[in-house]
Amino acid sequence: MRKVELDAPNLGEHEKQYLNKCIDLSFVSTVGPFVPEFEEKFAKYIGVRKAISVQSGTAALHIALYELGIGKGDEVIVPALTFIATINPILYVEAKPVIVDVDLETWNIDPEEIKKAVTKNTKAIIPVHLYGNPCNMDAIMKIAEEYNLYVIEDATESLGATYKGKQTGTFGDFGCFSFNGNKLITTGGGGMVVTGDEKRAEHIKFLVNQARDDSKGYYHPEMGFNYRMTNIEAALGLAQLKRIDEFLNKKRKFRQIYQEVLIDLPYVKFQKECNGTEGSWWLTCIKIEKDVNIDSLMEKLKEKGIQTRRIFVPACEMPYLKKYSTECPNAYKIYQKGICLPSSTLNTADSVKGAGLIIKELLNG
Ligand SMILES: Cc1ncc(COP(=O)(O)O)c(C=O)c1O
Repeated sequence: MRKVELDAPNLGEHEKQYLNKCIDLSFVSTVGPFVPEFEEKFAKYIGVRKAISVQSGTAALHIALYELGIGKGDEVIVPALTFIATINPILYVEAKPVIVDVDLETWNIDPEEIKKAVTKNTKAIIPVHLYGNPCNMDAIMKIAEEYNLYVIEDATESLGATYKGKQTGTFGDFGCFSFNGNKLITTGGGGMVVTGDEKRAEHIKFLVNQARDDSKGYYHPEMGFNYRMTNIEAALGLAQLKRIDEFLNKKRKFRQIYQEVLIDLPYVKFQKECNGTEGSWWLTCIKIEKDVNIDSLMEKLKEKGIQTRRIFVPACEMPYLKKYSTECPNAYKIYQKGICLPSSTLNTADSVKGAGLIIKELLNG
């Protein structure tokens, strides 16, 4: 039986052609024509002035915090339900993460919890558009304006998702994207920072190249980083970007299929969308509000070739983050009852429907 894949990448002839060009031209490192081309085409797709390619989504978040001068004594508000890479960069710059609870229905950071967490030391908010579901950006930007806070959007899971017609990642000071192997489009591993601020963009481009002043050879007027994307990665990114609509359509279709198949199980809840949003549904996830052991359900699904994964363990559970957390009951409920369903664009509508029917049968049984 063919596997129903969770998040495997979709690569083919098109990607091979781009990669072959890198080899034919001997442009494999960070110097190569595909890097600026990928940045330009990505910026155009997102609808922002500037996009700076980096080594990962984690590097994108780190460099955004660094560029804003966030550091010791500063607080950054983040959701409890996210991949750990949202939070670690705050510690890299020696600032303090303030971990708050999420909304039980959207699974995203709760604007009311942000408000409660603001202190005189708060400098920024990092909203995460979890699994491709856009956050309530009107509410978040209003709080940011009221308290004069920076906003760095963690859009690593939401490429292609829109809020009131605008792409996620374009609302805050910076938007951060990931092209890890399991994301909507992949470069093998890589990331992008986007911004409307050309000056900051230029400075980030300089910082990620070891802060090297090219006009003076090996002269570095400040501390920098080696966070550059390679030509090979950018080549893959360009090939994948050409297919982004095909991938998005599939992801959205798969979620619709799961919703149709599971509609008569009232205890199965999908992430709720805010008004005016269109999710990218990088992963379609459900919360099963009945007594069910998620691990044994996953095991049974695995035996039938259906790949799933658990929801992120709430950040408040990590030993080194406990001191930064408030109570996060909603994040726990979602973690305990949630599961990510096969969402890879390698799947077909039929295989996803088949997986949905098996899930339904197991939950009914
Ligand atoms: C919410 C979130 N933030 C940050 C990252 C970090 O991205 P990367 O793995 O490219 O460093 C990821 C993805 O892996 C993620 O899912």
